[in-house]
Amino acid sequence: MSTSDSPALTDAELKLLQTLVYQECGMHFDDRRTPFLQDRLQRRLKECHLDSFYAYYRLLTSHQGKQELSRLLENLTVNETSFFRNKAQLELFQRDVMDDILRRKQDRQDYSVRIWSAGCSTGQEPYTMAMQIADALSYHYLRRPLPYDSPVPKPMVPAPWRLEILASDINYSVLRAAQEGSYGEHQMAGVDYGYRLRYFDKVGDRYVVKKNVKELVHFDFHNLKTEFLPQRNDVIFCRNVMMYFDEAEQRRLVEKFYRCLNPQGYLFVGHAESLLGLTDKFQMVHRNSGTAYQRVEVQA
Ligand SMILES: C[S@@+](CC[C@H](N)C(=O)[O-])C[C@H]1O[C@@H](n2cnc3c(N)ncnc32)[C@H](O)[C@@H]1O
Repeated sequence: MSTSDSPALTDAELKLLQTLVYQECGMHFDDRRTPFLQDRLQRRLKECHLDSFYAYYRLLTSHQGKQELSRLLENLTVNETSFFRNKAQLELFQRDVMDDILRRKQDRQDYSVRIWSAGCSTGQEPYTMAMQIADALSYHYLRRPLPYDSPVPKPMVPAPWRLEILASDINYSVLRAAQEGSYGEHQMAGVDYGYRLRYFDKVGDRYVVKKNVKELVHFDFHNLKTEFLPQRNDVIFCRNVMMYFDEAEQRRLVEKFYRCLNPQGYLFVGHAESLLGLTDKFQMVHRNSGTAYQRVEVQA
């Protein structure tokens, strides 16, 4: 059922729209999700003061229609997210994965760590990563101190380490909100008081991510459907994104992620997602119900 006065889409119209959306961003709308597609399309028709699907479709596929196409995609993405989502997985990340990465890097005297949150929505995921890595580095130093004193107060990421967190999305409005990094009480549910005190400023009734945390995260637009994606990552988080793609697109994406990771790098996918049956280029790492996938290196 449509929510506006315009007539519901015919099957042929739906098919055209589904194909266009799939080609643009990989999102697949099966029968279960077509009412949502219908609803969002009707909204865009109304906003554009158009009453015919074909006029709208012509606009979307024209050169001048690029902006409308990204607005339609913004209306179709599901942006649900939260801080510290899937705690068991984050524990695996903070304790085991970071420990493995930091140890291997310190042995090679390579002090740069690069994490990518692909499909970051309003920023809770990459900011969670920043807070967790800052803590993991402090813990790492307790056990393997550097041969010199670090300045007081200690910076978030003590030298010589360099941390870069890239956070990307296809939706410009969530990227703007992420960059702002200002969250209401209801969005802070998963953040304990220790983290609130250390990493947020309270401004009125909002919690704003502190400047030194924001400085670790770089937000950018990347469409995961495209071939050229950010390279040389130690860890990729792509959680609750692949579930909107069909199997063929999931396979292509996992293959791209393999190439975007450093040797022995890690990929984290959502709780309801899995690489099972999609690839044999990753091996599963599992601890206390937290799961990650590590890149398998082919012996020469
Ligand atoms: C459900 S949110 C997940 C947010 C976060 N990763 C988490 O798990 O909490 C999915 C995000 O993926 C983004 N997305 C969907 N298709 C995409 C694509 N082709 N390229 C980049 N981002 C995409 C959406 O805009 C949305 O913000």
